[in-house]
Amino acid sequence: MTQPTKQAATEPAVVLRGVQYSFRKFKALVDINFDVPAQSLHGFVGPNGAGKTTVLKLICTLLKPQTGKVQVFGKDVATDYLEVRRRLGFMPDHFSMYRQMTVYEYLDFFAAAYGLSLATRTKVLDEVLELTDMGGRRGDLINGLSRGMQQRVGLARVLVNDPDILLLDEPASGLDPRARIELMDVLRALRGMGKTIIISSHILSELAELCDSVTIIDRGTIKYCGAMQSLLDHQTDFPTFRLTPAGPLNGLAEKLGASPGIVSVENVEGSLDLSISFDPEILDTNGVLKAAMDLGITVTGFSRAQRHLNQAFMDLTEKGVR
Ligand SMILES: Nc1ncnc2c1ncn2[C@@H]1O[C@H](COP(=O)(O)OP(=O)(O)OP(=O)(O)O)[C@@H](O)[C@H]1O
Ligand SMILES: [Mg+2]
Repeated sequence: MTQPTKQAATEPAVVLRGVQYSFRKFKALVDINFDVPAQSLHGFVGPNGAGKTTVLKLICTLLKPQTGKVQVFGKDVATDYLEVRRRLGFMPDHFSMYRQMTVYEYLDFFAAAYGLSLATRTKVLDEVLELTDMGGRRGDLINGLSRGMQQRVGLARVLVNDPDILLLDEPASGLDPRARIELMDVLRALRGMGKTIIISSHILSELAELCDSVTIIDRGTIKYCGAMQSLLDHQTDFPTFRLTPAGPLNGLAEKLGASPGIVSVENVEGSLDLSISFDPEILDTNGVLKAAMDLGITVTGFSRAQRHLNQAFMDLTEKGVR
């Protein structure tokens, strides 16, 4: 697989500015503005009906922008759509497959549709089958493959034209935990090859580990776009530390909560999340540990608690499906 054309580090892979989109009178996208950094793994997160698929379809030229600008590697999707399509691979959330074909026949069919010669197809198909770990299944009928394997074939299909940017609409839905983890490994490998990947998903905790940056969309409006780490680090009013005691939590939350400077205590999976109002006269982190030890608690873990992505997501999005 060839290395993608190197982009200047500052040039984003995707830019959306002032994008609105309506299905008849229904405004699916209200005012969309965000950038996706080149060569990044970018999460695209939002509740049902938020507008994720609509945005992805605009980027991949399946829908035409009604208002605003969508650019892929500096090319306008409305005017330069052929060039955009050449550099892009889109895996929709529901895709039908030619189930009576073998894996190889199916991939070869799409590679031929992209105009690849027989010799090039042989080479490219070997590469994508190896990358998606489907080499051993090349002669199998698609009909007999598990969902996880069909998903891999779907991914292999979008790789046959060696795209610089991949748009994957909920690729992990319906996969078991092992298949998900393996898919994430393939995506990391693809990022390592310099590809830009936008992955939409409801599986927030997995995105936190996988993605460099994230966009959160709700009701056709962008709620957050930036580094994944900044979203996780974002604190509410007080810094929070996670304390793990050796034994059971019985009554410890109430006792610690009564210590000066500890604003709130929350039980989280066998640990206590302590929000702390630091006043140097009263409390520093040693003071928190001392308060715990004075209560007879044996501390086995103490670290800065990251706000969980799920919490950030709940804070940024509204109740109810659209
Ligand atoms: N072809 C269409 N005709 C009418 N309304 C549509 C059409 N496609 C999408 N919508 C509406 O636009 C809104 C955004 O839909 P979209 O599919 O982009 O959301 P989504 O974030 O991908 O949701 P999900 O998580 O369920 O896949 C929804 O309210 C949806 O009902
Ligand atoms: Mg969708």
